[in-house]
Amino acid sequence: MWGAIERLGRDGRTGGYLRDAWSSADLELREWFRQEAARRGLDVREDRNGNLWAWWGDPSGRPGVVTGSHLDSVRQGGAFDGPLGIVSAFAALDVLAARGFEPGRPLGIACFTDEEGARFGVPCMGSRLLTGVLDPDRARGLTDDEGDSMAEVLRRAGRDPAVLGRDPETLGHVGVFVELHVEQGRELVHTGDPVGVASAIWPHGRWRFDFHGQANHAGTTRLADRDDPTLPFARTVLHARELAERAGVVATFGKLRVSPGNANAVPGLVSAWLDARGGDEGAVRALVAELTAFSGAEVSTESWTPVVDFDAVLRDRLAAVAGAALARPAAAPALPTGAGHDAGILAAAGVPSAMVFVRNPTGISHSPEEHAEESDCRLGVTALAAVLEDLCRS
Ligand code: GLV
Ligand code: MN
Ligand code: MN
Repeated sequence: MWGAIERLGRDGRTGGYLRDAWSSADLELREWFRQEAARRGLDVREDRNGNLWAWWGDPSGRPGVVTGSHLDSVRQGGAFDGPLGIVSAFAALDVLAARGFEPGRPLGIACFTDEEGARFGVPCMGSRLLTGVLDPDRARGLTDDEGDSMAEVLRRAGRDPAVLGRDPETLGHVGVFVELHVEQGRELVHTGDPVGVASAIWPHGRWRFDFHGQANHAGTTRLADRDDPTLPFARTVLHARELAERAGVVATFGKLRVSPGNANAVPGLVSAWLDARGGDEGAVRALVAELTAFSGAEVSTESWTPVVDFDAVLRDRLAAVAGAALARPAAAPALPTGAGHDAGILAAAGVPSAMVFVRNPTGISHSPEEHAEESDCRLGVTALAAVLEDLCRS
Protein backbone atom coordinates (compact mmCIF):
# COMPACT_ATOMS: atom_id res chain seq x y z
CA MET A 1 0.00 0.00 0.00
CA TRP A 2 2.81 2.40 0.90
CA GLY A 3 4.43 1.80 -2.51
CA ALA A 4 1.15 2.60 -4.28
CA ILE A 5 0.71 6.02 -2.71
CA GLU A 6 4.20 7.32 -2.02
CA ARG A 7 4.53 8.94 -5.44
CA LEU A 8 1.12 10.69 -5.34
CA GLY A 9 1.54 14.43 -4.89
CA ARG A 10 5.28 14.19 -4.23
CA ASP A 11 7.41 17.10 -5.43
CA GLY A 12 10.29 15.37 -7.22
CA ARG A 13 12.58 18.31 -6.52
CA THR A 14 12.20 18.45 -2.72
CA GLY A 15 10.67 15.08 -1.81
CA GLY A 16 7.89 17.01 0.00
CA TYR A 17 4.20 16.34 -0.55
CA LEU A 18 1.61 18.65 -2.09
CA ARG A 19 -1.73 17.10 -1.27
CA ASP A 20 -4.14 20.00 -0.87
CA ALA A 21 -7.75 18.99 -0.31
CA TRP A 22 -9.55 18.38 -3.62
CA SER A 23 -6.33 18.72 -5.67
CA SER A 24 -5.64 16.07 -8.32
CA ALA A 25 -3.31 14.28 -5.87
CA ASP A 26 -6.06 14.24 -3.22
CA LEU A 27 -8.60 12.93 -5.73
CA GLU A 28 -6.20 10.13 -6.73
CA LEU A 29 -5.63 9.26 -3.07
CA ARG A 30 -9.39 9.15 -2.48
CA GLU A 31 -9.74 6.79 -5.43
CA TRP A 32 -6.95 4.63 -4.00
CA PHE A 33 -8.87 4.51 -0.67
CA ARG A 34 -12.02 3.34 -2.48
CA GLN A 35 -10.10 0.63 -4.30
CA GLU A 36 -8.41 -0.66 -1.15
CA ALA A 37 -11.79 -0.80 0.56
CA ALA A 38 -13.45 -2.51 -2.41
CA ARG A 39 -10.63 -5.07 -2.62
CA ARG A 40 -11.49 -6.12 0.94
CA GLY A 41 -15.22 -6.21 0.31
CA LEU A 42 -15.83 -3.18 2.54
CA ASP A 43 -18.81 -0.95 1.86
CA VAL A 44 -17.54 2.58 0.96
CA ARG A 45 -19.59 5.73 1.47
CA GLU A 46 -18.75 9.39 1.07
CA ASP A 47 -20.67 11.58 3.49
CA ARG A 48 -22.09 15.02 2.67
CA ASN A 49 -18.85 16.70 3.83
CA GLY A 50 -16.54 14.61 1.66
CA ASN A 51 -15.32 12.27 4.41
CA LEU A 52 -14.91 8.66 3.26
CA TRP A 53 -16.06 5.68 5.34
CA ALA A 54 -15.27 2.02 4.62
CA TRP A 55 -17.36 -0.42 6.65
CA TRP A 56 -16.97 -4.06 7.59
CA GLY A 57 -20.51 -4.65 8.83
CA ASP A 58 -23.47 -2.30 8.79
CA PRO A 59 -23.27 0.56 11.32
CA SER A 60 -26.90 1.61 10.93
CA GLY A 61 -28.02 -0.90 13.58
CA ARG A 62 -25.25 -0.46 16.13
CA PRO A 63 -22.51 2.21 16.19
CA GLY A 64 -19.15 0.79 15.19
CA VAL A 65 -15.51 0.87 16.13
CA VAL A 66 -13.80 3.27 13.71
CA THR A 67 -10.15 3.89 12.95
CA GLY A 68 -8.51 6.09 10.30
CA SER A 69 -6.98 9.50 9.70
CA HIS A 70 -6.52 11.74 6.63
CA LEU A 71 -4.76 11.71 3.25
CA ASP A 72 -4.22 15.45 2.60
CA SER A 73 -0.94 17.10 3.61
CA VAL A 74 0.51 20.46 4.49
CA ARG A 75 2.46 21.99 1.60
CA GLN A 76 5.84 20.29 1.26
CA GLY A 77 4.78 17.94 4.04
CA GLY A 78 6.03 14.49 5.00
CA ALA A 79 4.73 11.12 3.87
CA PHE A 80 3.43 9.89 7.23
CA ASP A 81 1.21 12.59 8.77
CA GLY A 82 -2.24 11.19 7.93
CA PRO A 83 -1.49 8.38 5.44
CA LEU A 84 0.21 6.24 8.11
CA GLY A 85 -3.12 6.11 9.96
CA ILE A 86 -5.06 5.09 6.84
CA VAL A 87 -2.57 2.48 5.62
CA SER A 88 -2.28 1.07 9.15
CA ALA A 89 -6.07 0.90 9.38
CA PHE A 90 -6.32 -1.28 6.26
CA ALA A 91 -3.32 -3.35 7.43
CA ALA A 92 -4.88 -3.87 10.88
CA LEU A 93 -8.11 -5.10 9.29
CA ASP A 94 -6.01 -7.52 7.20
CA VAL A 95 -4.35 -8.83 10.37
CA LEU A 96 -7.76 -9.40 11.95
CA ALA A 97 -9.22 -11.02 8.81
CA ALA A 98 -6.20 -13.34 8.49
CA ARG A 99 -6.84 -14.50 12.07
CA GLY A 100 -10.40 -15.39 11.12
CA PHE A 101 -11.72 -12.64 13.39
CA GLU A 102 -15.40 -11.84 12.99
CA PRO A 103 -16.11 -8.38 14.44
CA GLY A 104 -18.87 -8.49 17.03
CA ARG A 105 -19.81 -4.97 16.00
CA PRO A 106 -19.28 -2.96 12.80
CA LEU A 107 -15.69 -1.97 12.13
CA GLY A 108 -14.98 1.10 9.98
CA ILE A 109 -12.15 3.08 8.43
CA ALA A 110 -12.56 6.85 8.13
CA CYS A 111 -10.66 9.15 5.81
CA PHE A 112 -11.34 12.74 6.90
CA THR A 113 -11.32 15.57 4.36
CA ASP A 114 -8.91 18.50 4.55
CA GLU A 115 -7.41 17.83 7.96
CA GLU A 116 -4.51 20.24 7.51
CA GLY A 117 -6.49 23.22 6.26
CA ALA A 118 -3.58 23.97 3.89
CA ARG A 119 -5.91 25.21 1.16
CA PHE A 120 -8.73 27.10 2.89
CA GLY A 121 -7.10 27.91 6.24
CA VAL A 122 -9.41 25.99 8.58
CA PRO A 123 -7.98 22.66 9.81
CA CYS A 124 -10.06 19.50 10.34
CA MET A 125 -12.62 20.80 7.87
CA GLY A 126 -14.30 17.41 7.34
CA SER A 127 -14.71 16.56 11.02
CA ARG A 128 -15.68 20.13 11.98
CA LEU A 129 -18.46 20.17 9.38
CA LEU A 130 -19.57 16.65 10.34
CA THR A 131 -19.87 17.55 14.03
CA GLY A 132 -21.43 20.94 13.35
CA VAL A 133 -18.75 23.14 14.91
CA LEU A 134 -18.06 24.86 11.57
CA ASP A 135 -20.85 26.85 9.91
CA PRO A 136 -21.30 25.46 6.37
CA ASP A 137 -21.92 28.99 5.00
CA ARG A 138 -18.56 30.06 6.32
CA ALA A 139 -16.91 26.93 4.84
CA ARG A 140 -18.46 27.48 1.41
CA GLY A 141 -17.18 31.06 1.33
CA LEU A 142 -13.56 30.33 2.34
CA THR A 143 -11.14 31.00 -0.50
CA ASP A 144 -7.83 29.44 -1.53
CA ASP A 145 -4.72 31.25 -2.78
CA GLU A 146 -6.21 31.42 -6.29
CA GLY A 147 -9.27 33.19 -4.93
CA ASP A 148 -11.50 30.17 -5.63
CA SER A 149 -14.17 29.57 -3.01
CA MET A 150 -14.55 26.18 -1.41
CA ALA A 151 -18.01 25.99 -3.00
CA GLU A 152 -16.48 26.39 -6.48
CA VAL A 153 -13.70 23.90 -5.75
CA LEU A 154 -16.23 21.31 -4.52
CA ARG A 155 -18.41 21.85 -7.59
CA ARG A 156 -15.40 21.32 -9.87
CA ALA A 157 -14.67 18.07 -7.99
CA GLY A 158 -18.23 16.95 -8.74
CA ARG A 159 -19.53 17.53 -5.20
CA ASP A 160 -22.58 19.52 -4.12
CA PRO A 161 -21.57 22.32 -1.70
CA ALA A 162 -25.21 22.85 -0.74
CA VAL A 163 -25.25 19.64 1.32
CA LEU A 164 -22.31 20.52 3.61
CA GLY A 165 -23.05 20.58 7.33
CA ARG A 166 -23.78 18.72 10.53
CA ASP A 167 -24.49 15.07 9.88
CA PRO A 168 -25.81 13.35 13.01
CA GLU A 169 -26.66 10.16 11.12
CA THR A 170 -23.06 9.60 9.95
CA LEU A 171 -21.65 10.68 13.31
CA GLY A 172 -24.06 8.32 15.03
CA HIS A 173 -22.36 5.39 13.29
CA VAL A 174 -19.16 6.08 15.24
CA GLY A 175 -19.30 4.38 18.63
CA VAL A 176 -15.59 4.89 19.29
CA PHE A 177 -12.77 6.38 17.20
CA VAL A 178 -9.07 5.50 17.31
CA GLU A 179 -6.61 7.46 15.16
CA LEU A 180 -3.12 6.08 14.61
CA HIS A 181 -0.61 8.84 13.80
CA VAL A 182 3.11 9.35 13.39
CA GLU A 183 4.50 11.09 16.47
CA GLN A 184 5.29 14.75 15.74
CA GLY A 185 8.05 15.07 18.30
CA ARG A 186 10.68 12.84 19.95
CA GLU A 187 9.06 11.77 23.21
CA LEU A 188 8.96 8.10 22.20
CA VAL A 189 12.62 8.28 21.19
CA HIS A 190 13.37 9.38 24.75
CA THR A 191 11.16 6.76 26.41
CA GLY A 192 12.45 4.02 24.08
CA ASP A 193 8.95 2.91 23.07
CA PRO A 194 7.86 2.19 19.49
CA VAL A 195 4.23 3.10 20.25
CA GLY A 196 2.46 5.47 22.64
CA VAL A 197 -1.05 6.80 23.21
CA ALA A 198 -2.35 10.38 23.41
CA SER A 199 -3.36 11.95 26.70
CA ALA A 200 -4.39 15.41 25.48
CA ILE A 201 -4.26 17.91 22.62
CA TRP A 202 -3.18 21.44 23.45
CA PRO A 203 -5.60 24.27 22.74
CA HIS A 204 -4.58 25.87 19.45
CA GLY A 205 -5.70 28.33 16.82
CA ARG A 206 -4.91 30.34 13.71
CA TRP A 207 -5.29 34.08 13.23
CA ARG A 208 -4.81 36.22 10.12
CA PHE A 209 -3.01 39.54 10.64
CA ASP A 210 -3.45 42.09 7.82
CA PHE A 211 -0.94 44.95 8.00
CA HIS A 212 -2.09 47.74 5.71
CA GLY A 213 0.30 50.30 4.19
CA GLN A 214 0.75 52.31 1.02
CA ALA A 215 2.28 50.67 -2.06
CA ASN A 216 4.91 52.97 -3.51
CA HIS A 217 8.10 53.16 -5.57
CA ALA A 218 11.15 51.58 -3.86
CA GLY A 219 13.58 54.05 -5.41
CA THR A 220 11.84 57.40 -5.36
CA THR A 221 9.96 57.32 -2.04
CA ARG A 222 11.95 58.86 0.79
CA LEU A 223 12.11 56.73 3.96
CA ALA A 224 10.26 59.40 5.92
CA ASP A 225 7.39 59.36 3.41
CA ARG A 226 6.79 55.62 3.47
CA ASP A 227 3.92 53.71 5.01
CA ASP A 228 5.65 50.31 4.89
CA PRO A 229 3.61 47.42 6.42
CA THR A 230 6.66 45.15 6.65
CA LEU A 231 7.91 47.20 9.62
CA PRO A 232 5.01 46.57 12.03
CA PHE A 233 4.94 43.00 10.73
CA ALA A 234 8.62 42.47 11.63
CA ARG A 235 8.12 44.01 15.08
CA THR A 236 5.10 41.76 15.61
CA VAL A 237 7.07 38.59 14.78
CA LEU A 238 9.77 39.52 17.29
CA HIS A 239 7.18 40.43 19.93
CA ALA A 240 5.35 37.13 19.39
CA ARG A 241 8.54 35.27 20.16
CA GLU A 242 9.14 37.29 23.33
CA LEU A 243 5.56 36.82 24.53
CA ALA A 244 5.65 33.09 23.80
CA GLU A 245 8.89 32.62 25.71
CA ARG A 246 7.50 34.54 28.65
CA ALA A 247 4.21 32.57 28.70
CA GLY A 248 5.69 29.12 27.98
CA VAL A 249 3.61 28.64 24.83
CA VAL A 250 4.48 28.54 21.10
CA ALA A 251 3.69 31.12 18.42
CA THR A 252 4.54 30.83 14.73
CA PHE A 253 4.14 33.00 11.64
CA GLY A 254 4.51 30.25 9.02
CA LYS A 255 2.56 31.76 6.15
CA LEU A 256 3.06 35.19 4.70
CA ARG A 257 1.68 37.07 1.71
CA VAL A 258 3.31 40.32 0.67
CA SER A 259 1.20 42.25 -1.83
CA PRO A 260 1.51 43.10 -4.57
CA GLY A 261 4.91 41.40 -4.33
CA ASN A 262 7.23 43.61 -6.40
CA ALA A 263 10.94 43.62 -5.52
CA ASN A 264 11.03 47.30 -6.52
CA ALA A 265 8.03 48.55 -4.55
CA VAL A 266 7.12 49.18 -0.93
CA PRO A 267 4.29 46.69 -0.35
CA GLY A 268 0.74 47.85 0.24
CA LEU A 269 -0.31 44.90 2.36
CA VAL A 270 1.30 42.15 4.42
CA SER A 271 -0.95 39.26 5.41
CA ALA A 272 0.58 36.95 7.99
CA TRP A 273 -0.90 33.92 9.69
CA LEU A 274 -0.24 33.32 13.38
CA ASP A 275 -0.48 29.78 14.78
CA ALA A 276 -0.46 29.81 18.60
CA ARG A 277 -0.69 26.84 20.96
CA GLY A 278 0.17 25.82 24.50
CA GLY A 279 -0.81 23.73 27.49
CA ASP A 280 -2.60 26.69 29.11
CA GLU A 281 -5.57 28.02 27.14
CA GLY A 282 -5.61 31.32 29.06
CA ALA A 283 -1.94 31.92 28.22
CA VAL A 284 -2.53 31.30 24.50
CA ARG A 285 -5.52 33.64 24.44
CA ALA A 286 -3.63 36.32 26.39
CA LEU A 287 -0.74 36.15 23.90
CA VAL A 288 -3.07 36.61 20.95
CA ALA A 289 -4.89 39.52 22.63
CA GLU A 290 -1.63 41.27 23.49
CA LEU A 291 -0.16 40.70 20.04
CA THR A 292 -3.34 41.96 18.35
CA ALA A 293 -3.16 45.21 20.32
CA PHE A 294 0.59 45.58 19.72
CA SER A 295 0.50 44.86 15.97
CA GLY A 296 -1.92 47.55 14.79
CA ALA A 297 -3.04 44.96 12.23
CA GLU A 298 -6.57 43.98 11.29
CA VAL A 299 -6.88 40.55 12.93
CA SER A 300 -9.39 37.78 12.20
CA THR A 301 -9.71 34.35 13.81
CA GLU A 302 -9.55 31.49 11.31
CA SER A 303 -9.93 28.66 13.80
CA TRP A 304 -9.84 27.93 17.50
CA THR A 305 -9.78 24.50 19.14
CA PRO A 306 -10.05 24.29 22.94
CA VAL A 307 -8.03 21.75 24.92
CA VAL A 308 -8.96 18.10 24.37
CA ASP A 309 -8.42 15.68 27.24
CA PHE A 310 -8.90 12.21 25.86
CA ASP A 311 -11.14 9.85 27.85
CA ALA A 312 -8.77 8.48 30.53
CA VAL A 313 -10.44 5.07 30.84
CA LEU A 314 -10.27 4.47 27.07
CA ARG A 315 -6.70 5.82 26.94
CA ASP A 316 -5.52 3.49 29.71
CA ARG A 317 -7.29 0.54 28.15
CA LEU A 318 -5.60 1.23 24.80
CA ALA A 319 -2.22 1.69 26.45
CA ALA A 320 -2.54 -1.64 28.27
CA VAL A 321 -3.73 -3.55 25.18
CA ALA A 322 -1.01 -1.99 22.97
CA GLY A 323 1.71 -2.72 25.53
CA ALA A 324 0.58 -6.37 25.86
CA ALA A 325 0.27 -6.85 22.07
CA LEU A 326 3.87 -5.72 21.65
CA ALA A 327 5.03 -7.85 24.61
CA ARG A 328 6.33 -4.72 26.34
CA PRO A 329 6.96 -4.84 30.08
CA ALA A 330 4.55 -1.94 30.69
CA ALA A 331 1.59 -0.14 29.14
CA ALA A 332 2.36 2.16 26.21
CA PRO A 333 3.26 5.66 27.48
CA ALA A 334 0.66 8.44 27.31
CA LEU A 335 1.78 11.74 25.77
CA PRO A 336 0.15 15.14 25.32
CA THR A 337 0.57 16.72 21.88
CA GLY A 338 0.66 20.18 20.39
CA ALA A 339 -0.69 18.89 17.07
CA GLY A 340 -4.35 19.02 16.11
CA HIS A 341 -6.24 15.93 14.91
CA ASP A 342 -9.71 14.86 13.79
CA ALA A 343 -9.74 12.58 16.86
CA GLY A 344 -9.74 15.76 18.96
CA ILE A 345 -12.71 17.22 17.09
CA LEU A 346 -14.66 13.97 17.53
CA ALA A 347 -13.73 13.79 21.23
CA ALA A 348 -15.00 17.34 21.74
CA ALA A 349 -18.27 16.29 20.07
CA GLY A 350 -18.72 13.53 22.66
CA VAL A 351 -17.45 10.54 20.67
CA PRO A 352 -15.15 8.39 22.84
CA SER A 353 -11.84 8.86 21.02
CA ALA A 354 -8.20 7.93 21.42
CA MET A 355 -4.92 8.03 19.54
CA VAL A 356 -1.99 5.68 18.99
CA PHE A 357 1.37 7.31 18.16
CA VAL A 358 4.20 5.63 16.26
CA ARG A 359 7.77 6.70 17.04
CA ASN A 360 9.37 9.25 14.71
CA PRO A 361 13.19 9.10 14.95
CA THR A 362 13.70 12.58 13.49
CA GLY A 363 10.92 14.11 15.58
CA ILE A 364 10.36 16.32 12.51
CA SER A 365 6.89 16.74 11.05
CA HIS A 366 5.15 18.96 8.47
CA SER A 367 8.40 18.62 6.52
CA PRO A 368 9.87 15.96 4.19
CA GLU A 369 12.22 14.74 6.96
CA GLU A 370 9.23 13.35 8.89
CA HIS A 371 9.93 9.63 9.32
CA ALA A 372 8.96 6.34 10.92
CA GLU A 373 10.92 3.09 10.56
CA GLU A 374 9.06 0.30 8.78
CA SER A 375 9.61 -2.00 11.79
CA ASP A 376 7.88 0.55 14.08
CA CYS A 377 5.04 1.00 11.57
CA ARG A 378 4.49 -2.76 11.65
CA LEU A 379 4.40 -2.68 15.46
CA GLY A 380 1.88 0.16 15.17
CA VAL A 381 -0.33 -2.12 13.04
CA THR A 382 0.01 -4.96 15.57
CA ALA A 383 -0.99 -2.61 18.39
CA LEU A 384 -3.88 -1.12 16.40
CA ALA A 385 -5.22 -4.57 15.45
CA ALA A 386 -5.18 -5.61 19.13
CA VAL A 387 -6.94 -2.39 20.15
CA LEU A 388 -9.65 -2.80 17.50
CA GLU A 389 -10.19 -6.43 18.44
CA ASP A 390 -10.52 -5.48 22.09
CA LEU A 391 -12.98 -2.64 21.35
CA CYS A 392 -15.06 -4.86 19.06
CA ARG A 393 -15.63 -7.21 21.97
CA SER A 394 -17.37 -4.53 24.03
C1 GLV B 1 -2.19 19.62 12.16
O1 GLV B 1 -1.34 18.80 11.92
C2 GLV B 1 -1.88 20.72 13.04
O2 GLV B 1 -1.56 20.44 14.21
O3 GLV B 1 -1.87 21.85 12.59
MN1 MN C 1 -0.45 17.63 10.25
MN1 MN D 1 -2.30 14.50 10.84
